[in-house]
Amino acid sequence: MKEDLIVYNRPKSIISEGIRTLRTNLQFAAAGDKLKSILLTSSMPGEGKSFISSNLALAFAQNGSKTLIVDCDLRRGRQHKIFEVDNSKGLSNLLINSRMEKDFEDYIVYTNIEDVFLLPRGSVPPNPSELLASDSCKKLMRILENEFDMIIYDGVPVSGLTDALIMSKLVDKTIIVCAVKETESEALLNTKKALLNVEASVAGVVVNKIPANTKTYSDKYYIN
Ligand SMILES: Nc1ncnc2c1ncn2[C@@H]1O[C@H](COP(=O)(O)OP(=O)(O)OP(=O)(O)O)[C@@H](O)[C@H]1O
Ligand SMILES: [Mg+2]
Repeated sequence: MKEDLIVYNRPKSIISEGIRTLRTNLQFAAAGDKLKSILLTSSMPGEGKSFISSNLALAFAQNGSKTLIVDCDLRRGRQHKIFEVDNSKGLSNLLINSRMEKDFEDYIVYTNIEDVFLLPRGSVPPNPSELLASDSCKKLMRILENEFDMIIYDGVPVSGLTDALIMSKLVDKTIIVCAVKETESEALLNTKKALLNVEASVAGVVVNKIPANTKTYSDKYYIN
């Protein structure tokens, strides 16, 4: 486990460097505007949203920001596995708790990595999209902003689901993750179009899984 947490395990690797550059670029791109919440989405499954989300959270925490990862993939989210923490209650359960405002802290777990907290996905609900689109979710996002310096929402792909589009309107910045040799350019363009159509503030595209030059780097992949 925790092998995905490259910024923690191999802080000097090229990929960790790339994640820290991403953090810095996001801070510059915000240029004084509020930057407290970031959504990671993509065109298709498996491009690296969860991998980038967890590592980006570590990078913000290393900078002294109290950081929360929210696993919004209520169907298949795996952040609790990445951090090896309990998922018996999480976002899905919190969103249906009528005492959310009082109880939310009970659902957030400390990851044992300084300043990194996780709201895991919780039990798989029958209606994930409805939960994410609910007023309760909007309310929760406002509450969390008052408690944390940075909130990273690990999302789902845009294709076929409305979840990512709904969430993108509620966060300060949205990042699109794509993967070399996996993402089709047309799918990427459609994702960008769909996000801009709902007036999401798209910070940019992370190009993930670039094969490293094996002569120079021991990493299998790095990001750009
Ligand atoms: N830069 C990278 N270097 C090495 N492995 C990576 C990298 N990015 C992602 N992976 C691996 O690729 C797989 C898919 O990544 P991940 O689960 O983060 O994708 P995802 O976009 O969140 O997928 P899903 O749509 O299913 O939620 C994982 O096994 C992850 O460890
Ligand atoms: Mg994921």
